[in-house]
Amino acid sequence: MKILTFALLLSITSLAEAVPSMLGLPAMKVPADNPQSTEKIALGKKLFNDKRFSANGSISCASCHISSKAFTDGRPQAVGIDGLVGQRNSPTIINSAYLNELFHDGRRSSLETQALDPLTNPIEHGLTEHSRVIHVIRTDFSYLKDFLNTFGITAEKINMNYVTKAIASYERTLISGNTRFDQYFFQSSKKVLTAAEARGLRLFRRKGNCANCHEISWDNALFTDNRFYNIGIGFDALRPVLPAFLKNLKTDYSSAVAQLDPQQKAQLGRFAVSRQIKDIGAYRTPTLRNIELTAPYMHDGSISTLRDVIEYYDKGGKKNAFLNPAIFPLHLSEQEKSDLTAFLTSLTDTSYSKPQH
Ligand code: HEC
Ligand code: HEC
Repeated sequence: MKILTFALLLSITSLAEAVPSMLGLPAMKVPADNPQSTEKIALGKKLFNDKRFSANGSISCASCHISSKAFTDGRPQAVGIDGLVGQRNSPTIINSAYLNELFHDGRRSSLETQALDPLTNPIEHGLTEHSRVIHVIRTDFSYLKDFLNTFGITAEKINMNYVTKAIASYERTLISGNTRFDQYFFQSSKKVLTAAEARGLRLFRRKGNCANCHEISWDNALFTDNRFYNIGIGFDALRPVLPAFLKNLKTDYSSAVAQLDPQQKAQLGRFAVSRQIKDIGAYRTPTLRNIELTAPYMHDGSISTLRDVIEYYDKGGKKNAFLNPAIFPLHLSEQEKSDLTAFLTSLTDTSYSKPQH
């Protein structure tokens, strides 16, 4: 019996290793084949900041995920190689280790697989193939030392599997919690929020219906439920072509999508992953931690200020056939709008910018 329990415990710990977390954050699940280590985290940080992994040596992951901007870039849409502008807003990668699915439409399911995409995206790092990354690493003595120390491997064994493991391990250290909100809510330190912020929290959970999607649990708050919703953003681009698109879908998915221009395609949201009509224009609920530092907002960067976000929700979003029923006119007073905005600024924690190890 004892042996059985021991074996069971062993198998549980090999599945997931919980990393100590901060006030307001749950325990983190780490893939069993990629445990955290100090060397790996340091290597991941170095890779994340290396501009040589791009077509002309100008772009690193940190070009769009800038630490002083809570790992966003302050632009409506990301700008990559040769100044090329993408369709989407760069999200924060803080606490992305807690997300079940990555990207606004959730098309990747781990940090390890996500990290491959930007490198060969023609408008981000712009590499034609991942072997360019391996070439840079194999010809850099300091990286060879790092890979040997971290993974115990020599040059010829280095591949993207190890590279993405290191980047993901670094990203798992970018966590943010213990804000004034957390102290107020989880530790009952009632004085840390101003009266306006405390009223804003109440509105967030009740009249505003925000916590319906930007979830607050009893012992942690990620401010996302990891689900996808159409709240109406970006839908105007699709509206004129929607009837024809829906009709074409009945015959063939690929040819229906092929008839859309890139801007229209980018507004399909979760539908592009799930191919379920109800997911047209749906995006994953984003976290709201550090939201004060991550303007402009939404998957297309179309809203510039928090106050304008509140105005958008107050009006009930933008009507469309797929608008989620949890989005409806709120009839907030001016005072309530200010309180809600004030609350959102209590979610700022900049400790992520301090050295991790
Ligand atoms: C040119 C700007 C740019 C560069 C360079 C870039 N990213 Fe991103 N990143 C984005 C954008 C834009 C998105 C959202 C794209 C989408 O959802 O379609 C994103 C999404 C992500 C996400 C998912 C976050 C979430 O909330 O789902 C992670 C993690 C991430 N990037 C990490 C990286 C890593 C690691 C690198 C380097 C290998 C990198 N990024 C390089 C712009 C960039
Ligand atoms: C039905 C679910 C739902 C409800 C209710 C909801 N949100 Fe959202 N929220 C989302 C989704 C999904 C997005 C991303 C939409 C996009 O990118 O197009 C979002 C985006 C945001 C953003 C921008 C985040 C960023 O990083 O760009 C803010 C701020 C925000 N919501 C605040 C609120 C507030 C305040 C309320 C209540 C008044 C609220 N939300 C109610 C689902 C919801």
